[in-house]
Amino acid sequence: MAATGAALYLFVTIHLLGNLQVFLGPEAINSYAAKLKSVPEIVWGARLGLLATVGLHILTTIQLMRINAKARPTAYTKKANSASTVASRTMYLSGPTIAAFIVYHLLHLTVGSAHPQYSETDVYSNIVFGFRVWWVSAAYLIAMGLLCTHLRHGVQSMFQSLGFNHPLQTPRIKKFANAVGILYFTGFASMPLAALTGFLPPFFERL
Ligand code: HEM
Repeated sequence: MAATGAALYLFVTIHLLGNLQVFLGPEAINSYAAKLKSVPEIVWGARLGLLATVGLHILTTIQLMRINAKARPTAYTKKANSASTVASRTMYLSGPTIAAFIVYHLLHLTVGSAHPQYSETDVYSNIVFGFRVWWVSAAYLIAMGLLCTHLRHGVQSMFQSLGFNHPLQTPRIKKFANAVGILYFTGFASMPLAALTGFLPPFFERL
């Protein structure tokens, strides 16, 4: 689970950095997307790798749920959540919600069937016009919030799986995980917010 989580982290990081180029203007992000698409081996290799990784991440989640259920066959009569966080208790909920978000996201920005004016080549205008629909941006912000609580808990669990669990190290790891969650949320949320508020200036020069 930790290994597939780390691989998904890598994808999310590359995807975030790639998309943040929207702030550099249409040429930057459109030529980046065109360059990626011009090498189908990379695109399809990454897609298949991503699909396999997501599949394995879900499979290991199911295995973990089974192990947990076996370890505690009878439910607690009174459940006091002493050491867990909201993020850790909602991992099983945020996971499927993120999966549903990805399906919508693909129809919105990759296939284009859920987009008001999709263009095959103009990723910049797909982002700008896609996020100008306020409820779409609102849904993205909620999904990004869930994704980032998932990522935050994921970082913490990854360190625990690697054996870092110590009264001195654990508070530092928690701080680091919080910072990671906030950083990724800020990065992802900045795009719908910028499109909604018109904070992508080069776009207006093209109108
Ligand atoms: C505001 C945040 C996001 C923006 C602006 C964004 C933007 C985009 C765009 C423009 C594409 C289409 C690229 C192209 O066809 O050239 C895309 C594809 C994709 N995005 Fe995102 N994305 C965001 C968040 C996410 C998140 C959080 C995830 C995963 C957890 C994700 C996963 C994907 C996947 C799997 C694809 C399909 C890649 C492919 O196979 O072509 N995206 N995204």
